[in-house]
Amino acid sequence: MTTGFRAPKGTNDILPPYSRDWLWLTRYASGVFQRSGYEYVDTPMFEQTEVFERGVGAGSEVVGKQMYTFDDMGGRSLTLRPEGTAPVMRAVLEHALDRGPLPVKLYYVGPFFRQERPQKGRFRQFFQLGIEAIGSDDPSIDAEVIEISWRLLNELDVKPRLLLNSIGHQDPTCRGAYLATLVAWLEDRADQMAPADTYRITANPLRTFDSKEEKTIALMETAPVITDHLCAACTEHFAAVRSLLDEIGVVYELAPRLVRGLDYYTRTAFEFVSGRLGSQDALGGGGRYDGLSESLGGPALPGIGFALGVDRILLASTDRDWTEPGPPHIYAVALGDAARRDVFNLVTELRRAVVRAEFDVMNRGMKGQMKEADRSGARWAAIVGDDELAKGEVTLKDLKSGEQEGVGRSNLIRVLHERHGNEAEAVSPGPGHGR
Ligand code: HAM
Repeated sequence: MTTGFRAPKGTNDILPPYSRDWLWLTRYASGVFQRSGYEYVDTPMFEQTEVFERGVGAGSEVVGKQMYTFDDMGGRSLTLRPEGTAPVMRAVLEHALDRGPLPVKLYYVGPFFRQERPQKGRFRQFFQLGIEAIGSDDPSIDAEVIEISWRLLNELDVKPRLLLNSIGHQDPTCRGAYLATLVAWLEDRADQMAPADTYRITANPLRTFDSKEEKTIALMETAPVITDHLCAACTEHFAAVRSLLDEIGVVYELAPRLVRGLDYYTRTAFEFVSGRLGSQDALGGGGRYDGLSESLGGPALPGIGFALGVDRILLASTDRDWTEPGPPHIYAVALGDAARRDVFNLVTELRRAVVRAEFDVMNRGMKGQMKEADRSGARWAAIVGDDELAKGEVTLKDLKSGEQEGVGRSNLIRVLHERHGNEAEAVSPGPGHGR
């Protein structure tokens, strides 16, 4: 029976068994980030709207069209976070972390909200895994951030392509000059663009590279590219980032037409795309945002980071074998009323000794309980009847081989951990384990 209520359009319930992979992935990624010196940060799910207007840029699609914005009871305009970089920078500045040791290296996992038209891989509530390194403009931190995301995605076997670009910095000698060239070039060819895109020439000329219209896409193939117009410092920075990536064997493709959808980016910009996702092919992306702190009223404070879409990684990874070895898993089967009471004690004792233990609370008979034991995925059943109670033991049944034997109650925990340990050694680990 259903009630007629549905989760809001564009949102997902994360249910088992999918939730197992979801949890494994977020934990695994957390481990990867921690091993590179990043610490967990969690900012509120909503911020003052201005954090995004000033941080991400009022001219971006995300801010202009996709935000969930509302007034609270005090008449303050709040917005459900559409992304994590501006909030993390807000938190760093608010708590003066930038006055401590630099760089500040943080990672996050959580839900983000964008009012987009839902389709495969595009949701209104989605999850990101991201890192931000704030306080350094050294090319080696760019290479570190890119390598971490590249390695994580490769370990997960989603086989992404890494697209890399530099989009310079906001200065008349760099991106400013390029934009003037681009606008003039586009104005001369406005008739060759899709009519829906001509507004971009004045509104946000870089966005013309993001068009989904075939006519505009074809035109942009021949447009002047930013990498031919970078200032000397940005050219040198980009060359240094590439050379570091080459040295550590990160495989990338130069993508001079890659512009990111958020306005804070400067210099290094990158994106991971997958052929397994259809039109929403970006698994994640990131880049440098050297002006973000200042646009939020802070000091000059460079930064770089990325965010990966958890939902999209899970969509792109078709062969997931990510289950953790976990503790020994047993299902306690009770025959008779006395045994039922005893089994509750047994299960509690086992759980306290780090065994995954389950038992029947639906008053099933022996057959029903054995079926449940199988369904639960337990490796063993501990059968308790009057006989076993009298002898102070359980009948331990191996649910794989069908073999069974009496095991004294005082030995049960040791025997389970021992057999589980032998088994875990013999089983080959899933992708990513032990790295
Ligand atoms: P972004 O490219 O807007 O960057 O989002 C990063 C990733 O989040 C996307 O590549 C995609 O996998 C996922 N994503 C975005 N929107 C949706 C959606 N509607 N449904 C499902 N997945 C989605 C940022 O958000 C930047 N804050 C990344 C960053 C961190 N740059 C520097 N530091």
